[in-house]
Amino acid sequence: MRKRHSDELPRFLRDSSSSSNNNYSHGQSPQQWPRRYYIYVAILLLVCWLMYPSSSSHSLSHEHGVDSWNNYAYSLYASDSATLCHALLVFHALERFGSKAERVLFYPDYWDLKIDGKLDRDSQLLVEAKRRYKVKLKATKLLNVEGRSADAWLNTFDKSVTKFLAFSLTAYKRVIALDTDITLLAHLDDLFHLPATPMAMPRAYWYKAKPWPLSSVLMVLTPSLAELARFTSEMDKGADEALVAAHKFDMQLVNDRFEHSAMVIPHRPYIMLSGEFRAKNHSSYLGNTFEEWDPAAALAEARIVHFSDWPLPKPWIMWPHEGLAEMQPDCAGRGAGGCEDRRIWKELYGDFRKRRRDVCGYLSVPAPDWVSVKDTVHGDNATEGTGYAAPHVDDVEGKAGGSADSVLAEATKNVAADLG
Ligand SMILES: *[C@@H]1O[C@H](CO)[C@@H](O)[C@H](O)[C@H]1NC(C)=O
Ligand SMILES: *[C@@H]1O[C@H](CO)[C@@H](O)[C@H](O)[C@H]1NC(C)=O
Repeated sequence: MRKRHSDELPRFLRDSSSSSNNNYSHGQSPQQWPRRYYIYVAILLLVCWLMYPSSSSHSLSHEHGVDSWNNYAYSLYASDSATLCHALLVFHALERFGSKAERVLFYPDYWDLKIDGKLDRDSQLLVEAKRRYKVKLKATKLLNVEGRSADAWLNTFDKSVTKFLAFSLTAYKRVIALDTDITLLAHLDDLFHLPATPMAMPRAYWYKAKPWPLSSVLMVLTPSLAELARFTSEMDKGADEALVAAHKFDMQLVNDRFEHSAMVIPHRPYIMLSGEFRAKNHSSYLGNTFEEWDPAAALAEARIVHFSDWPLPKPWIMWPHEGLAEMQPDCAGRGAGGCEDRRIWKELYGDFRKRRRDVCGYLSVPAPDWVSVKDTVHGDNATEGTGYAAPHVDDVEGKAGGSADSVLAEATKNVAADLG
């Protein structure tokens, strides 16, 4: 503070003296100025000089003060081991990009922070979130479609509506709620300063039919218990089974409420699908038909990449080999050596898997059977699943004896295949 005053004061004085010089040269000649005018000007300068430091320190504390960032938070939720890890990856990214807002994580109240040995990875990661990423932890009953907490041992309910708990954070002026099947490429702190409004969201530009619905991957919301109560009462009514199976119920709810009133955040560059790198026509994402698609430039400006390459699995599940061969971006678009789309697309997946291993110590879940996945009609759910556990890096390294070699070999192969 003190340093800043001494920086800024001379500039102020210089400015005002130069402006009085201007008066002097362009105005009346000094002889015509009665002496008392000089006294008035001197008093005015003195008053300004006295007032300037206090008003500047006031505005400084508003802009740079610890105070204001306390009003803003990112809100994520963990409903199982996988989403806990992926939430950690988002917090890790926020920390790395220097986000100044607070961080909140909702987690199931049947978990705890007591680490029972090396394999209690959930507790380890919760403690890590708190210590390393300064996350405020909130134990909660997970919300599901019926608005009740699901049986802790059944993983069959759609928990995505748990994200609406962000509305309960009324200690903050504004909250950014994010899904965790994403890669964050920059922080989103600028969105906290949008004009005040109950909800701001981007559109799901990848939908065929217009108007595109709002995408619940990113919600900039104003916390409100009344709003939360409205959502939970909607959940109580239950939902269309197909929507629930496709993990789309949260999106339906939020569109019913805000479709025509939300402030729309431009999807470009805030949210891009990983599948954009497989697309042939990029006019929806780009927002025009005249711009040429440049994958590297698109990646460089994007803030969030949302993993979605159905029927290929999410990045924490390994690619079935046939599936990869069938689905990966072809190198047709940009002439010889133009495999940039494929390179970037693979790198996004490889990077997610590497961070999962480095930050959480998780390897990837084995690949599903491609033929059965591919032919699932309603199938968004088949490769979303986090129901089966991924092997831990430690499990593999920690075991001794004959079997360890084969486990290790398998895991090494998995990592190599993941990253390759
Ligand atoms: C891409 O799609 C838009 C409409 O969605 C269409 O107007 C445009 O002609 C298409 N571009 C190409 C190259 O096919
Ligand atoms: C996925 O949805 C289908 C019906 O849409 C259902 O039969 C199947 O059990 C679901 N799978 C999982 C893993 O939830």
